[in-house]
Order: sequence, then C-alpha cells, then structure tokens
Amino acid sequence: MSSKRALITGITGQDGSYLTEILLEKGYEVHGIIRRSSSFNTQRIDHLYNNPEILNRKLFLHYGDVVDSSSINRLLEKVEPDEIYNLAAQSHVKVSFEVPDYTAQVDALGTLRFIDAIKEVGLDKKAKFYQASTSELYGKAREVPQDENTPFYPRSPYGVAKLYAYWIIKNYREAYNIFAVNGILFNHESPRRGETFVTRKITRAAARIALGLQDKLVLGNLDAKRDWGYAPEYCEGMWRMLQQDEPDDYVLATGETHSVREFCELAFAELGIELEWRGKGVEERGIVKEFDIEVISDKLRVTSNELTTSSHVTSHTSLTNGSVVVEVSPQYFRPTEVDLLMGNPKKAKEKLGWEAKTRLEELVKIMVNADLKKVIEKGY
Ligand code: NAP
Ligand code: GDD
Repeated sequence: MSSKRALITGITGQDGSYLTEILLEKGYEVHGIIRRSSSFNTQRIDHLYNNPEILNRKLFLHYGDVVDSSSINRLLEKVEPDEIYNLAAQSHVKVSFEVPDYTAQVDALGTLRFIDAIKEVGLDKKAKFYQASTSELYGKAREVPQDENTPFYPRSPYGVAKLYAYWIIKNYREAYNIFAVNGILFNHESPRRGETFVTRKITRAAARIALGLQDKLVLGNLDAKRDWGYAPEYCEGMWRMLQQDEPDDYVLATGETHSVREFCELAFAELGIELEWRGKGVEERGIVKEFDIEVISDKLRVTSNELTTSSHVTSHTSLTNGSVVVEVSPQYFRPTEVDLLMGNPKKAKEKLGWEAKTRLEELVKIMVNADLKKVIEKGY
C-alpha cells in the first residue's frame, strides 16, 4: 500500500469521484478541492464523504477554486502533494459558447495558476501533475484516427481554452523540468456522467420514456460521432501516466467511433424498444418500430425487488408502435461542431499497459440500467 498524498481539483465531478475511489483503494491520502455552492455538490462522493472511516482520515476536502490563486497556493503549501490531478473545468462544450470568458478563466488560466504555483511554492521537484486534456483539441480533425501527433484544430471556446492548458503544461515541463503530463482523453461516460451530456441525457430519457414519465427526447446533431469509453478505466489510466519515470502525453480512447443516433438505438433497445428513423435534418424523428413490453415489465419487477426502499414507479408506459420518442431541435446545435472523433490508443497500450475494456454495447447497458434503477427508486 502507498503512503502517497494526492490533490484532486474537480473531485466532485464524474472523473474526480472515480479517481478518488481508485487512489483510496491504492492506499493514497486524498485531498480534494471543492467549490462553495448554495446547495450540496458532493453527491458523487457522498458514499466516501459519509463514511467516518474515510472522511478526515484518508479523504480530506478543502474549499477552493481554480480562479482563486490564493486558495491554490495555500492548499499546495498545506497539503504538499506527491501527485496533483487537475480535473477542474467548465467542461460543457456547448455552454462554453455562452460563457467563453469564464471557460477560459477556469480551463486555461486555472491550469496556468496551478502549474505556476507548483514552481512558486517549491514543489516543482516533488509533485507530479496530471492535466485533463481532451480529444476536443482535435476538433475539425485533420486525420482519422487521432493520436498524440495529430495536429489540433479546436472548434469551441472550451477546446481553445484546453489548447492553452495543453501547451502551458508542455512549456512548464520543458522550461522548469516539472513532471507534468497531458492525458488526451476521448469521451468517457458512466452512470455518474452529468445529465446534460448526450449519453446520459439519452439513457436517462430512455428509462423515463419506458416508464411513462416522459414523452420525448429532444436532441441536437444525431450525426456527430464519438469514441465513447467507460470512465473508471480512464481514471486508472490517469494514475498510470503519473507512475512513469518520464513525463509524456498520452491518448486514451477505445479506437471505435459511433454516432449519437447509434447510441440512441442501443439505449432504447436495452429497454425492448426498437427505433426506426424517418425524415431528415431537423425533421428527423425516432419512432417506435416495435416495443417488447415484456422487457420493461421484467426489469421493473426485478429492480423493484432489489430496492431496499419501496419503489415509486409501479407501472410502465403505454407506448405503442409508431410513437415518436426522439426529435431534433436546433436549440442543441453548436455554432461550430466536432463531427468525428476516433482515437488511437496504441502508445498508452505500449507504454502504460492501458487498454479500454468496456465496449459501447456494454457501456450503454450499464448506463441505461443504472438510470432505470434511479428513476424507479426516486419516481422522477
Ligand atoms: P465534470 O463532471 O463536469 O466535473 C468538473 C469538475 O470541475 C467538478 O468537480 C466541478 O465542480 C469542478 N469545477 C468546475 N469549475 C471549477 C472551478 N472554477 N474551481 C474548482 N473546481 C471547478 O467533468 P468530468 O467529466 O469529470 O471531466 C473531468 C476533466 O476531464 C475536465 O477537465 C474535463 O474537461 C476533462 N475531460 C473530460 C472528458 C470526458 O469525456 N468526461 C474527456 C476529456 C477531458 P462542481 O461539482 O462544483 O461543479
Ligand atoms: N450535450 C448534448 N446534448 N450533445 C448533443 C445533443 C444534446 O442534446 N444532441 C446531439 N449532441 C451531440 C453534440 O453536438 C456533440 O457532437 C456530441 O453529441 C457529444 O456531446 P457531449 O455529450 O456534450 O460531449 P462533447 O463531446 O461535446 O464533450 C465531452 O467530451 C469531450 C472529450 O471529447 C465533454 O466531456 C468534454 O469536457 C470533453 O473534453
């Protein structure tokens, strides 16, 4: 077991929560930076937070913000971490078009503040730094698949801010010999994914539609293609990058790409709903071709039996063949889109021994069934 100390920004996010579990399991003392919020924002780590064996023994939470230099400096001096994982970000690409300045403050300058503070407080020889870089850097991708040498062409304020962060990490590595790495991660999803990212939006809506709690799912660009993997595996990859002797940048990806439309088909199929598509562009509709009611009845019965509390949902939908369950709205289009991402994870496999294990079909199954369970339990 390790006695290393890690500091995580973005600990309350999808990746932060999985990474915390992984590091605790490996024997780390974990320190996380949380933001002050008017309501609770620790749901993803509540199972750790509420465990008296863990909180303030192995896991320590501190208020701070990556736009606030003083809190960064203070925490670095106080915690003196061996490893720093910079996961904090305004991470929603579409939202970055609405709040470009804030996105740059957090995603670009937040990274600079951190890496510079490491130097200023004298941790440059001790601490290793992981930067959450992204496949959004490839944007209007110059080649398929994309690897560590593919040129960047970001297509959003988010992508451009992350490009700055990528280069400042490289620059500080070369200028000051800091052990700092860029993990260029392709999309990774899980039941803990935020509800406004497309995968979770789809799996949650499919569950609610199958249970009769929602009529339709309204999406944007159905043609966009992504390389979707399973988040906990990618967080293990982050840790591996910091265990190397030399700092370097790595792509983590599955090597497969699928469209938003395909993701929808798989999600609804898991609930016994076969979709067919009619129309084009904003007129396109996802229609129930066939609905096997036994699938959802069985899942409802099994899940209700598994619950320790009584279920709030006891019946399923009255969907019929021909019901429209997916529609398109330009409201969800982006001013500039990233059409296709597909990563080449060869270097990570060779150097880190890392490989994505969960294929898309399995990922969709995990997410749909987790959402179904949540909806049955909560009733909404
Ligand atoms: P996420 O669920 O949106 O989590 C983002 C985290 O950052 C949250 O804990 C959030 O706190 C925190 N945060 C936001 N602004 C902050 C600020 N000003 N100061 C301190 N903390 C702040 O994102 P994720 O999916 O876990 O992704 C983790 C990182 O990897 C992000 O940097 C993202 O851009 C990057 N990335 C993600 C993917 C992916 O597919 N998931 C792929 C490539 C790169 P609150 O909980 O208080 O909002
Ligand atoms: N969010 C969302 N909502 N996206 C939609 C919708 C919708 O209703 N309909 C279609 N899409 C399309 C988007 O236009 C995009 O092409 C694709 O689905 C994926 O969108 P998101 O799930 O929002 O993720 P993203 O790929 O833009 O960004 C995520 O992955 C990046 C790594 O490539 C985020 O996690 C980023 O933080 C991360 O860097």
